[in-house]
Amino acid sequence: MALPASSRFQFASDLTICRLLNGMWQVSGAHGYIEPARAIAEMFAYHDAGFTTWDLADHYGPAEEFIGAFRRQFAEGYGVQRLSEIEAFTKWVPPPGPMTRPVVKGAINTSLSRMGVECLDLLQFHWWDYEDRRYLDALKHLTDLQREGKIRHLALTNFDTERLRLITDSGIRIVSNQVQYSLVDRRPETRMAAFCRDHGITLLSYGTVLGGLLSERYLGRPEPGRSELQTASLQKYKNMIDAWGGWALFQELLAVLKQIADKHRVSVANVGVRYILDRPAVAGVIIGARLGVAQHITDNARVFGFALDTADHASIEGVLAKSRDLMKLIGDCGDEYR
Ligand SMILES: NC(=O)c1ccc[n+]([C@@H]2O[C@H](COP(=O)([O-])OP(=O)(O)OC[C@H]3O[C@@H](n4cnc5c(N)ncnc54)[C@H](OP(=O)(O)O)[C@@H]3O)[C@@H](O)[C@H]2O)c1
Repeated sequence: MALPASSRFQFASDLTICRLLNGMWQVSGAHGYIEPARAIAEMFAYHDAGFTTWDLADHYGPAEEFIGAFRRQFAEGYGVQRLSEIEAFTKWVPPPGPMTRPVVKGAINTSLSRMGVECLDLLQFHWWDYEDRRYLDALKHLTDLQREGKIRHLALTNFDTERLRLITDSGIRIVSNQVQYSLVDRRPETRMAAFCRDHGITLLSYGTVLGGLLSERYLGRPEPGRSELQTASLQKYKNMIDAWGGWALFQELLAVLKQIADKHRVSVANVGVRYILDRPAVAGVIIGARLGVAQHITDNARVFGFALDTADHASIEGVLAKSRDLMKLIGDCGDEYR
């Protein structure tokens, strides 16, 4: 199976990505046990199918080491020259503290060594507390490290529009912000997307398939209790559904999505992902992969084979209009972490 050209996105002048990124939070341990050898073997299946872009973080358990092992096996099997086919986007999520050059450099060196690379394709920076302005110190040092060739592109995750503006106004070049974005959580549309579009910044979206809740598997199902939601993602996005409008409204949404999915001969998840891929400023959607446990490669590839029409959008809007405004309830992108 090969993905069509429309699956690729010019993320930066020197970097293209697959618009569906493979999310590696699912190997952290919060989504069940992952067997390393099986997981790494399965990374080849994703890559070979065209899903060449990985989203990971310093705190996703062994994720950075998995990239390192995958790259080693890849070089042995496919040749070193093909390593440039892999894009691996990590994050740095430091605990609050001084952001001196040695602290920042130490963290980046750790990621470089775990991933077995000399330069990080993308470093996405997270910060917990806006009152603590040392995030600007961290970003300054990260920019220096970028100039020194240790980071190819600098990005953020879960920053709100106000701070994104402050950061870009201070002359720091950010290529993307990774935020929660789905049919249920459309907060990026309020302020973030327009700001990004106007400043040449893109969005990487997570939570788009709601941990798997946005699928046929949950259509017509009674509201699941917490004990039935066995991954950290399912629990996280069930809370989001509760805030958004509750299980009954979510069932209405799933029913409408199923009709649209049947019309296009695709899946409910495909419809939810296609909708977000088509939103302004969105570069890609990250879909979590429980490597070696469950796999949706064939289904997710269908996202690139259809388009939503005006009638589809109208019926989706009919349901979404009944939901609560999460921007008012929670705040801008990432405010749920603060
Ligand atoms: N920056 C941040 O703060 C942040 C936060 C959360 C996530 N992320 C990133 O986003 C990635 C995705 O994580 P997430 O929590 O948002 O999870 P998600 O992508 O919403 O859900 C992943 C789960 O959805 C199910 N799924 C995938 N494709 C499907 C399909 N076609 N049909 C039906 N079910 C399907 C799978 O469930 P099964 O395995 O049960 O089949 C999979 O484990 C993470 O790995 C991470 O890289 C970033």
